[in-house]
Amino acid sequence: MRGKTIEPLFTEADIAREIERLAGEIAARKPENILVVGVLKGSFVFTADLIRAMHRVGLAPEVEFISLSSYGSGTVGGDVRIVRDVEGEIAGRKVLIVDDILESGRTLRFARDLMLSRGATGAEIAVLLDKRMRRVAEIEADYVGFDCPDHFVVGYGMDVAHAFRELPFVGRVV
Ligand code: HPA
Ligand code: MG
Repeated sequence: MRGKTIEPLFTEADIAREIERLAGEIAARKPENILVVGVLKGSFVFTADLIRAMHRVGLAPEVEFISLSSYGSGTVGGDVRIVRDVEGEIAGRKVLIVDDILESGRTLRFARDLMLSRGATGAEIAVLLDKRMRRVAEIEADYVGFDCPDHFVVGYGMDVAHAFRELPFVGRVV
């Protein structure tokens, strides 16, 4: 594909199964008035599938997106910026932040602190993939699809140099 070999790590069926599990775990905590905030761009496919799985277990989330960029050295002090903000009110909402992959944790730490500083009554985090070995910031996800091996992965919304977001599975670039 595009001169690169992609070795599948998590298949469409694997992903579909884990998303149903995540929706069940989210529903088990009986959230009310839930606002899903997807972190662009990588989470758009996961968010789309997760909200439909949430519907199947009886939840009715509202959905917003935020676009964040992170710069800097990979340290906790690295800079995260809002590229495009959410449109609605956060105060008083129970927010579920959704991202494709949790690595250093700087972006998700920023996103969670941002939601809480705006008066969210809760700010839980759901990620498809967790690369725990890469963590820099102090943060954990509340809902994790898969523990991810320490490879650069693409597909299912995730890219390398803007390519491969359209793949329906998650693979490793080899
Ligand atoms: N793949 C794609 N995007 C990413 C990754 C990855 O492994 N890690 C952080 N952003
Ligand atoms: Mg991302």
